[in-house]
Amino acid sequence: MAKDKITVVGAGNVGATTAHIAATRRLGQIVLLDIVEGLAEGKALDMAEASPIYGSDQNVVGTTDWARTAGSDVVIVTSGMPRKAGMSRDDLLATNAKIVKAVSEQIARHCPNAFVIVVCNPLDAMVYATAKTTGFPKQRVTGMAGALDSARFCYFLASELDVCVEDVHCVLMGGHGDDMVPLPRFTSVSGIPIAQLLDASKIDELIERTRKGGIEVVHLLGFSAYYAPAAGAVQMAEAILRDKKQVFSCCAYCETEYRADGQFVGVPAVLGKEGVERIIELDLNRSEQVQFDESLAHVKELVAKVDGIL
Ligand code: NAI
Ligand code: 2OP
Repeated sequence: MAKDKITVVGAGNVGATTAHIAATRRLGQIVLLDIVEGLAEGKALDMAEASPIYGSDQNVVGTTDWARTAGSDVVIVTSGMPRKAGMSRDDLLATNAKIVKAVSEQIARHCPNAFVIVVCNPLDAMVYATAKTTGFPKQRVTGMAGALDSARFCYFLASELDVCVEDVHCVLMGGHGDDMVPLPRFTSVSGIPIAQLLDASKIDELIERTRKGGIEVVHLLGFSAYYAPAAGAVQMAEAILRDKKQVFSCCAYCETEYRADGQFVGVPAVLGKEGVERIIELDLNRSEQVQFDESLAHVKELVAKVDGIL
């Protein structure tokens, strides 16, 4: 059987880590691409040299040449400036919109049938920029943020409750910003609602920590997180390539769902061989819908700014 082909654009912290995780999970043939001469080639060679230790065939190549990406099944876009201390994700908009536009033009040319998973920030607006520039069907363009934010929330809950991380499941919606909407009503430990395990003030504290999860890492490291973001991107690629029909919080195109009115925004969705196969509509209560509407309004503002740049 032919190997799946995965291109990772950007060989920086998130991109190189994504390629590394994908290689160790034997996801397919991986092409790591960057504009900086030698960067992707060097990192890919280093990864390939580890393959005898992992016991997998060499399956990563690095390049600056888009021709090497031809026919990719999945393209993961991490080519963007990350934030530093004192910056919000929104501060990256103008710079990253131009990068994402240039990259999307190349994706449309060389990988016309690919599923695209965007990672660059501000996430929801960059997903919109990718969809608009590539012109790809909406179910083939999505963004990774909910996988990361959900993982953070689940990790904080598992640590607090001293339970297995795999038993904690949550749903998180809205844009990838401080106004994201974790939904404790849809969060459980092996089916037990967290409200039965933790008091409301502790749940609120962990929600707040999740909302500020990105900046907590920036404050410690001096730059943006990359291990968990890369793991989230690979998990989404794997769900698509292996047709897992896995339910993710991800940035997906909503027509009428959640009254989102034709926007890309974080919602629970099923990922499989058709990409974003369907959006799951939860029956939100009034307070949850109000929070989602506020987050959506923020996403719409950013999208309007991106439209002025594209
Ligand atoms: P980084 O600076 O380490 O890597 C970015 C790489 O992109 C650099 O190597 C750069 O040379 C490359 N690049 C720039 N323009 C390019 C182009 N036109 N073509 C190919 N490569 C190009 O940054 P890092 O930490 O890897 O973050 C990447 C992006 O991901 C940032 O925008 C960051 O904010 C975002 N991010 C998003 C997360 C999410 O949950 N959605 C989580 C973590 C990061
Ligand atoms: C994060 O949440 C910076 O969006 C990135 O870590």
